[in-house]
Amino acid sequence: MNVQNTSDMKGAKPTHTADITNVEDSLALQQEQAKYDDDFATNTAMSNTLLTPRFYTTDFDELDAIDVSPVREDWDKLIAQMVSDPNKGHFKKNEDWDHVDWENMEPQLKKEFIDFLISSCTAEFSGCVLYKEMKRRGNNDDIVQLFQLMARDEARHAGFINDALREAGLRVNLGFLTQSKKYTYFRPKFIYYATYLSEKIGYARYITIFRHLEAHPEHRFHPIFKWFQEWCNDEFSHGEAFALLMKTDPKLTSGRNVLWIKFFLTAVYATMYVRDHQRPAFHEALGVDPDWYAHEVFTKTSKLSEQIFPITLDIEHPRWQPTLERLQRANVAIAEGKEAGGLGGKLKAWANSAKAALCFAQLYTIPAHKHRVPESTRLEPVY
Ligand SMILES: [Fe+2]
Ligand SMILES: [Fe+2]
Repeated sequence: MNVQNTSDMKGAKPTHTADITNVEDSLALQQEQAKYDDDFATNTAMSNTLLTPRFYTTDFDELDAIDVSPVREDWDKLIAQMVSDPNKGHFKKNEDWDHVDWENMEPQLKKEFIDFLISSCTAEFSGCVLYKEMKRRGNNDDIVQLFQLMARDEARHAGFINDALREAGLRVNLGFLTQSKKYTYFRPKFIYYATYLSEKIGYARYITIFRHLEAHPEHRFHPIFKWFQEWCNDEFSHGEAFALLMKTDPKLTSGRNVLWIKFFLTAVYATMYVRDHQRPAFHEALGVDPDWYAHEVFTKTSKLSEQIFPITLDIEHPRWQPTLERLQRANVAIAEGKEAGGLGGKLKAWANSAKAALCFAQLYTIPAHKHRVPESTRLEPVY
């Protein structure tokens, strides 16, 4: 009997994360497979810098106390759609999964692509860990149900990337990461801003690559990109959920909090820009200019975030692009300084950290566009 069929047997546990509907079983299966783990991938996922995905923890009791009745109608619709689980079974290899010639992949591309996969897997798993913890600690049925559904999706996403990594002889040990990676504490409102944005920018990133490769299939150098459309729809729904959570309390998106929103918008956009520019060979293989890509993704994310945020960043401002470029060069110089070591290296790293901080301040102080937030928050993925 082949392995696939066992999942169809009555009472038998599914054998692939794509078919699992609860996060505990998904993680247990991934832990079972951890015997293939690899130190390189796990160590990369463990690293904590400004640019690598982090793990978060928060005040779960405050989150648990949210009352979703002001958005009940939209909430129930969104939850019903997530419960219907349109992507169950999607995140596994099938006949569309082309053979990947890892052996003959150009070494720089291979290095950058693996880095992309490990970083994406860590980011997916970071969401999974946070959502799962909320689900475990909560007593509020609405909140617990939402976080259970989102944790389910992120566990599948991480599991699928791990499938792709395994073909390259790599695998991120998710159990080890859960126990050993450093957790950053964020107050719930910061979790809303950061997570909402990371879900929406995740959607914008995946759909932009997907649409580009639809038009230019000759650049699809790995089959995982074929899965990006359904993938980004999951992230879209997660973003919708955070928008509704914020909608329950108008204070979260007004007054002084608008300054925090601007901070998170700037930080998320700038991080993406700098991180993507560290992978030139990857973007060249995709046939994507990273500056075009960043602008495209920022435009889409800004348009979407108008659903809940009263401001958007002015990415057309004459100072925006040149400052991003300077920030990116400072970041390269910091890495060079650290690599060189010694007093000279340290000085170079410090001087450029100061430069990077200044660039960030210059981005932050560009006047934002203000606008009225619509009455209803709900959006559908249209890109
Ligand atoms: Fe995800
Ligand atoms: Fe997500």
